[in-house]
Amino acid sequence: MGQTLTEKILDDHLVEGELTPGEEIGIEIDQVLTQDTTGTLVWLQFEALGLEEVQTELAAQYCDHQTYQFDFKNTDDHRFLRSAAGTFGAHFSRPGNGICHNVHKENFAAPGKTMLGSDSHTPTPGGLGELAIGSGGLDVAVAMGGGAYYIEMPEVVNVRLEGELPEWATAKDVILELLRRLSVKGGVGKVLEYTGPGVETLTVPERTTITNMGTELGATSSIFPTDDQTKDYLERLGREDVFEDIGPDEDAEYADEIVVDLSDLEPLIAEPSMPDNVVPVSEVEGVDVEQVMIGSCTNGAYEDILPAAKMLEGRNIDKKTEMIVAPGSKQASEMLAREGWTAEMMAAGVNFSEATCGACIGIGHVPASDSVSLRTFNRNFEGRSGIEDDNVYLCSPEVATAAAIKGEIVDPRDLADELGDLEAPGLEMPDQYIGNSESDLIAPDNAVDDELIKGPNIGDVPLKDPLETEVGGEALLKMEDNITTDHIIPATQDILMYRSNVPKLSEFTLSRVDDTFAERALEADGGVLVAGENYGQGSSREHAALCPMYLGIETVLAQSFARIHKANLFNFGIVPLTIDEETYEKIEEGDDIEIVDDAAEAVKSGQTEFTIRVNDDWEATGQLDASEREREILAAGGKLSHTKQQHDDG
Ligand code: F3S
Repeated sequence: MGQTLTEKILDDHLVEGELTPGEEIGIEIDQVLTQDTTGTLVWLQFEALGLEEVQTELAAQYCDHQTYQFDFKNTDDHRFLRSAAGTFGAHFSRPGNGICHNVHKENFAAPGKTMLGSDSHTPTPGGLGELAIGSGGLDVAVAMGGGAYYIEMPEVVNVRLEGELPEWATAKDVILELLRRLSVKGGVGKVLEYTGPGVETLTVPERTTITNMGTELGATSSIFPTDDQTKDYLERLGREDVFEDIGPDEDAEYADEIVVDLSDLEPLIAEPSMPDNVVPVSEVEGVDVEQVMIGSCTNGAYEDILPAAKMLEGRNIDKKTEMIVAPGSKQASEMLAREGWTAEMMAAGVNFSEATCGACIGIGHVPASDSVSLRTFNRNFEGRSGIEDDNVYLCSPEVATAAAIKGEIVDPRDLADELGDLEAPGLEMPDQYIGNSESDLIAPDNAVDDELIKGPNIGDVPLKDPLETEVGGEALLKMEDNITTDHIIPATQDILMYRSNVPKLSEFTLSRVDDTFAERALEADGGVLVAGENYGQGSSREHAALCPMYLGIETVLAQSFARIHKANLFNFGIVPLTIDEETYEKIEEGDDIEIVDDAAEAVKSGQTEFTIRVNDDWEATGQLDASEREREILAAGGKLSHTKQQHDDG
């Protein structure tokens, strides 16, 4: 039987296990990526493990999420990250040089390689045939030290593309269509592999918009085969030497097949406040729009901003609508500026930002209260924009720009009819991309520092003791379905600046759900969290497991867990138990929860069913779905303690 492209790459990198869906496999990692909000912990953990030098082919540290240096804490973090990259041998991308996925795609992504990144949109370079997976920072630290990355072998699903995109429909509409059909849980445990005749009609930048947002489907990764489009893109980047012709075997077998006819697509939009609330733009026309933002790792590339610039040429944006362009990389900014497009957009009323994630996580450009913001980003979870009563819609740059011109949501096809002279901009790539300057993207052999520089806001990583016999406590909080990592640790500026200071950051744990939570948890000396389906969806933020661990949370009972967050719970020694709907409904906040079994022993022995006693009154069952390795990690008190033990034992 032939292999899928995913299986081929995994096979090439396999160090443990077999490629059977659901079984745990260990793979060798070629490249790693980390960013500023997760990176400080990655390097502190790398240091805590006693590691001295990066062992992967390539490691890159980006400063992109919080680039504004409001006070010394962020600047200290940036300096620490530069010093860590220099000391341990990673590339360092300065604040303002761009979003990790954009800069990585432009400079390092290569077909056939494996990549691990401490950011949930790490799969972006799948558009170039790289198998890239998002994980917690500790996994990244271990992989950088030469350790394997362990993951359940995903199912590989064939997304067969047919036809060709019509005018005004874009790559964003392809992924919004998949979200509409499959929901934010539709890709869980899967790699989406794109095939079919429609593939060759899409350029690499279009493909990376699709692979980027596969994360919103919950997918482990998304990948395209390579072809002339890939070669062409790499040539324009001046990196054609990394091209490899790779794809699935003709007789490859997939777990499932989804067919998308590109010719049937029309402009789509995700309504507030979930990326899968997708409807045709024509259905929501007429809604007043106060803010339009173009940017992010999904649609912040040169090829995404140029259509907006073309649409705005010789026009003005509406007087009551603000339009902000935040390019994904400085390279994009520089090219647009050199070609005169920046001036064109400014003349139309656009406000230009530095290349940063910023607004995507509520840092800067927070919408006005109870107003509508149209964004080309990938997430619109409630409150993520920095204000609780936000109304964020997700769409393509074309739809966003049309709204900026009209001042309300409008199908760009209707706007074109109305204006008479508005043409579909299409997609255009530069003949030659300009590279990053040596001081914006600093190579390890050009490093500034050779020792770590830690400011006063950079603390050590707390270690947890081995798992105890008795696990349980008060049900401190009962939460609904789809709790995101943004709910657990919000990524807004006032909170995020404590990312390297765990005791302080922990004070904000779950504050968006209950602002007394951290205090109550500390008072009670820990306890239990209860949640519905898909607990921990969203980003790879390991603080969302680390802070609850610091507060003494020993177990989370949920109807289901998001993949990366579940791995993070193991990594920080918190027992993730799956409960059924009936148990979830019956447990109440304040209940006394006790895991009846000797937890340490049960975890080590491979026990899958745990008896949960509630209020000494009734019992239910919690399911522990964990590999042998994950059980060892849990028993040791988390991955750091476990890996350290292994190192210390020689
Ligand atoms: Fe940054 Fe938002 Fe992407 S935070 S990495 S632009 S999802």
